[in-house]
Amino acid sequence: MSNNKVLEGMKIPEHVAIIMDGNGRWAKKRMLPRNMGHVQGAKTVEQICEDADSVGIKYLTVYAFSTENWSRPEKEVNAIMKLLRNYLKDCIKRANTNNMKVRVIGERSRLSDDIREKIEELEEASKNNTGLNFTIALNYGSKDEITRAVKRIVRDCVDGITNVEDIDEKMISGYLDTAGIPDPDLLIRTSGEERLSNYLMWQLAYAEFYFTDVLWPDFDKDELIKAIEKYNGRDRRFGGVNEE
Ligand code: FPP
Repeated sequence: MSNNKVLEGMKIPEHVAIIMDGNGRWAKKRMLPRNMGHVQGAKTVEQICEDADSVGIKYLTVYAFSTENWSRPEKEVNAIMKLLRNYLKDCIKRANTNNMKVRVIGERSRLSDDIREKIEELEEASKNNTGLNFTIALNYGSKDEITRAVKRIVRDCVDGITNVEDIDEKMISGYLDTAGIPDPDLLIRTSGEERLSNYLMWQLAYAEFYFTDVLWPDFDKDELIKAIEKYNGRDRRFGGVNEE
């Protein structure tokens, strides 16, 4: 299949968020070390960016490393960081070839200096690109993001930059790491798990959820199309009712 024709006449979600789960199980099934699952998962990320762009998705956000993932064995954390380091380096070239604008969300102070520098370089190099808006959640957790936003809002109130009375949902959204990015329309989680795992909890308030048993390294354009088809079967009412 892999053909955009099947999507003709369908509503394409503007923003798709993905929890890329199942790398470890993918490797285990093949008697490979867990890290090989992450390596293959990173390749899937590259391909899915191109696929998302080709079907007309404007924003894609992936969960690469959560604030909780530091509790994994040190060897695995180091391997993921090494992979991310290489990915970020290559991504500068790829972002410009594919006209992709890349942003990283999450708390950066715990990341190593060289990773932080690569993130800054990548964001700067791709900031004027007009194609897919690709966001990588790295050392990201919703509770951490909201806590940091609350601190900044309180500080701005104390400093007289804003007032308590002016705090509303729009203002809070503007203090989150995702400021300026529309809320996701569709959340995809692979590998059969059906949890939010501290991902974009504020932003996903009205998103449709799509869960699939496919392991992340096996997720491809056909699977993306299946998720979009399912999304089209949903009746999004945002808390209201649809008029007959
Ligand atoms: C979940 O699989 C995956 C992760 C915690 C890491 C995701 C990282 C990548 C896909 C690679 C790097 C990312 C980018 C953006 C290049 P798991 O290890 O929890 O799998 P399991 O549940 O089967 O053990």
